Amino acid sequence: MSEYLIAPSILSANFARLGEEVDNVLQAGADVVHFDVMDNHYVPNLTIGPMVCQALRDHGITAPIDVHLMVKPVDALVPQFAKAGASIITFHPEASEHIDRTLGLIKEHGCQAGLVFNPATPLSYLDYVLDKVDVILLMSVNPGFGGQSFISGTLDKLRQVRRLIDDSGRNIRLEIDGGVKVDNIRAIAEAGADMFVAGSAIFGQSDYKAVIAQMRRELAR
Ligand code: DX5
Ligand code: ZN
Repeated sequence: MSEYLIAPSILSANFARLGEEVDNVLQAGADVVHFDVMDNHYVPNLTIGPMVCQALRDHGITAPIDVHLMVKPVDALVPQFAKAGASIITFHPEASEHIDRTLGLIKEHGCQAGLVFNPATPLSYLDYVLDKVDVILLMSVNPGFGGQSFISGTLDKLRQVRRLIDDSGRNIRLEIDGGVKVDNIRAIAEAGADMFVAGSAIFGQSDYKAVIAQMRRELAR
């Protein structure tokens, strides 16, 4: 399997000094910045938009920025985030009227594209677009908040998606988001994930480097 990516969710960072937080977590060994966009409509919380993504780029962040859109509608934000420096843009298929079009829009704007599945969202949304996704993101909590517990049924769903990806022969990242911690990351990897979002598990500790090193140790075990 390809290398594992650790993607801290900045939802749990200190927003009053976000640039510094992102610098610190990248220096601590993170691979990707996970950027949670919530609109108080698709999910019951309100966070950050393209201006903040642009501000991180202007601050000098060069690592990939993984924009997780928890918004409805989706399309208008795609060009804005691409312009603001997003590397990956994922969205929830039930929040888009035209899934194929939205995936195409993301690619046209030079970003990698992905679909996000809530715990109860069926995988059948993938049936006709598997050849168009670069990332499949499984939510292991209901979206909207950091700090929730991992829903264990997601492990079976991960195994199913892992089989789909392997059978397709395509190079698709399998990302997991919600409740990822040092003590469950290995089981999650064994179920097939290769990209791990972790918010509270990382930003909730004072030593980001120690947590990320522990996660990597678990993954290498
Ligand atoms: C939840 C967000 C997650 C969240 C994860 O809707 O998509 O990215 O920040 O936070 P933890 O790792 O604390 O569950
Ligand atoms: Zn997220």
